[in-house]
Amino acid sequence: STTPLAATPPMGFNNWARFTCVPQAPPGGGDARHYSFQTFMTDQGRAMTASGLAKAGYRTLVTDDCWMERRPDGNLHGASHWTSPRHHGGEQPGFDDDLTAYVATLHRMGLLAGLYNTSGYLTCEYVPSGEAGHQTQDARKFARWGVDFLKLDNCGAPETSLPGLFRAMGDALGAATAGSARKILFDESAPAEFAPSDPLKYESMSWVRGLGQMWRTGPDVATTRIGDNGRPLDDPWLVTDPARAGLDGVYQSFTDTVALSRYVSPGNWNDADQLLIGDDGLTSAEERSQMALWSLMGAPLLVSADLRLMARDASDPHYAQSLAILKNSGMIAIDQDPLGAGGRLVLRDNPADDAGMDVVLKPLADGGLAFLILNKDDKTVTRTFPLSRLGVEAKPCSLDLIDIWTGKPERIEASGTLTVTLAAHDNAAWRIAPSACLTVKPRGQIAIA
Ligand code: GLA
Repeated sequence: STTPLAATPPMGFNNWARFTCVPQAPPGGGDARHYSFQTFMTDQGRAMTASGLAKAGYRTLVTDDCWMERRPDGNLHGASHWTSPRHHGGEQPGFDDDLTAYVATLHRMGLLAGLYNTSGYLTCEYVPSGEAGHQTQDARKFARWGVDFLKLDNCGAPETSLPGLFRAMGDALGAATAGSARKILFDESAPAEFAPSDPLKYESMSWVRGLGQMWRTGPDVATTRIGDNGRPLDDPWLVTDPARAGLDGVYQSFTDTVALSRYVSPGNWNDADQLLIGDDGLTSAEERSQMALWSLMGAPLLVSADLRLMARDASDPHYAQSLAILKNSGMIAIDQDPLGAGGRLVLRDNPADDAGMDVVLKPLADGGLAFLILNKDDKTVTRTFPLSRLGVEAKPCSLDLIDIWTGKPERIEASGTLTVTLAAHDNAAWRIAPSACLTVKPRGQIAIA
């Protein structure tokens, strides 16, 4: 059999969570009048390489909403201006009409090029550029440009039309790249539409899974808003502010996504939305936890932070720490594990947004497993778990563990306990070597303490 497209979860950058469609200045300020959206994306790509992130595996550079316009003749082009119907005042240049040169520039850097559009008529920023009726024509154009990745959103499309619209796009992408070595990964937003309790969420899995390689599982991740004084206004870990209802904090994205872990397999990834690591708002503990939770779930790792600054100020302690988290090779290996299992929630002390600990367990290709313990509390907590509570059956013998964050080996008794002391919202994560005295319980237990 052939290797599926996206045999492991995609890794890269998406500009949306941090930047949306709002024009940006060149790094370090300077004359914005000639700083185009296209140059901004190319600069992010260059920084992905310069920061060492590309070498660590982050290679797909996704341009989200507002890069495009549909002309009256029906043709899709790069938008001449960096603006959107919602964010007015964009006088800055956008993209070339034809993206061939832009995509080739990324390919020369060893990167992959991703673009966004929507399934119906209007994008979520009200750009009237949607794919309805244009799927074949656009898929051919994307293939001609050399595009590697398409994120297809569902704003404005009636629920009942989603299966047809997504199928038309998936088929068109397949047809346009048949016989070509360069395939276009299909990233679907469709299931994000449905609330976690809505049976349609599960029903949608029956069709999105066959069409694309990844799909959004829930609402948009709640990027921190920055005040006029340049300080972060809110905490993107947990959204409690009713004014931000409809957005998911990082912890809430995890909860929505882990519920769908049985749909994960090579070429089929639950997308818990963008990583805010290196952006403002998360504490270092929370950055570590977003990385670990996403990796245990086998979620795509798409960073949305200013890579230009991270590359330029890589020795600034904040960026140095964020880069180290994103590049942690032990954790990336868990995300990219070739078995492609979705981590399961095996223990949750209290309801999702309350204090206590969550435990996630992920079987690995080598027959071992990864597990992580997350402290949901706002303070440091010490806790001892018997291994029997962690979703594994262990006979008496010793187990070899590696602390994923530090690479430090440990040995424990399989019938024994694990004690963790975790700061607020921090985690501990281990990789357990395969062992005859270990079996993973088939469905993972959910124990309420
Ligand atoms: C939706 C998506 C986001 C982003 C925006 C663009 O909200 O969920 O990820 O693509 O649209 O408008």
